[in-house]
Amino acid sequence: MSFIASRLSAIKPSPTIAVTQKARDLKAAGRDVIGLGAGEPDFDTPGHVIEAAAKAMAAGETRYTPVNGTPAVREAIAAKFKRENGLDYTPDQIQVACGGKQIIFNALMATLDPGDEVIIPAPYWVSYPDIALLFGGKPVTVDCPAENGFKMRPEQLEAAITPKTKWLILNSPSNPSGAGYTRADIKALTDVLLKHPHVWVMSDDIYEHVVYDDFAFATPAQVEPGLWDRTLTMNGVSKAYCMTGWRVGYCGGPDALIKAMTKVQSQSTTHTSSISQAAAAAALNGPQDFIAANNAVFKDRRDLVVGMLNQAKGLSCPTPEGAFYVYPSCAGAIGRKAPDGKIIESDDDFVTGLLEAEGVAAVQGSAFGLSPHFRISYATSTELLEEACRRIQRFCGSLT
Ligand SMILES: Cc1ncc(COP(=O)(O)O)c(C=O)c1O
Repeated sequence: MSFIASRLSAIKPSPTIAVTQKARDLKAAGRDVIGLGAGEPDFDTPGHVIEAAAKAMAAGETRYTPVNGTPAVREAIAAKFKRENGLDYTPDQIQVACGGKQIIFNALMATLDPGDEVIIPAPYWVSYPDIALLFGGKPVTVDCPAENGFKMRPEQLEAAITPKTKWLILNSPSNPSGAGYTRADIKALTDVLLKHPHVWVMSDDIYEHVVYDDFAFATPAQVEPGLWDRTLTMNGVSKAYCMTGWRVGYCGGPDALIKAMTKVQSQSTTHTSSISQAAAAAALNGPQDFIAANNAVFKDRRDLVVGMLNQAKGLSCPTPEGAFYVYPSCAGAIGRKAPDGKIIESDDDFVTGLLEAEGVAAVQGSAFGLSPHFRISYATSTELLEEACRRIQRFCGSLT
């Protein structure tokens, strides 16, 4: 018998972290590797945020804070929800955690009983199914192919709901596809949810600000106020504010849920760093103009990558509305032979072959629940992206 708890056998370590580590290891061993696996902006945290953190430290903000976050950061978050989303949450209806990931962890731990179902549109962020499984939940994944813009249709949601459904997890713009749900797309889904009062929605809005081409972000509690009391609106500073390492995520939700999630967190991390909370308050309250500047760079990179990948033999790459990922199909490469004689039978084989032949690390679509695709993060320098795309074109061209 293993010493390790059986609940862990149901889950796997984050595949995106694994790819990033593999690329790092190969680089350390002297290989020329371009890592396109990481989901973090390559821009630095803005200077005024760093200054706020230094000031907080010097002012003695180095002690335990309330579990759900300092009053200052929760007030900044409540103001953000009002200003940007038209949502009313009191500071007591807000929780701050060690990243958006811990918010999801807290919410699912606080609500899932064994066998409870969580509807997850695929392709999905890698952690949703595994966190649900960790707490005995049953992920119900719904295929949302490229033909549907990688978005879930209302009839698919209707068909997936059972008496056991507890949550729908919605993520727009999406990791890994970059697909963004319009207000009308969300309304079509919230109309379905209105008919099923036992189903809650968790909206993962972490890429809210990383959007292009006039895409207008919307979130379910704003689109359908009738769902406010069964919506958890999740967000964080990792992506838009280039603060992945600071570990600050947050959410707004009904009192009873926030209370239960706070109970969970009080027995785990207690809270995220007091200094990070001060930094997050400064990020949310401070100037926002750098976000548009960063997005302009991301947009150029997106266009570069989409253009170059669509010129690669056997690839087809839709243009995403947001986030910093593309999710091309490699269907045209399946069944072909690589120069080393191996047949590409899956997207796993495709990314393995690409890494071995050309030193480009991407993440296989199977990790995100929709194949045959692969994910590229374009949150890396334009020069490296150009070189990576040239290598991908060469790899695809070498398949026979
Ligand atoms: C869709 C999505 N949600 C949540 C997170 C969690 O981010 P963090 O824990 O850094 O706030 C990520 C990070 O990659 C993500 O892509």
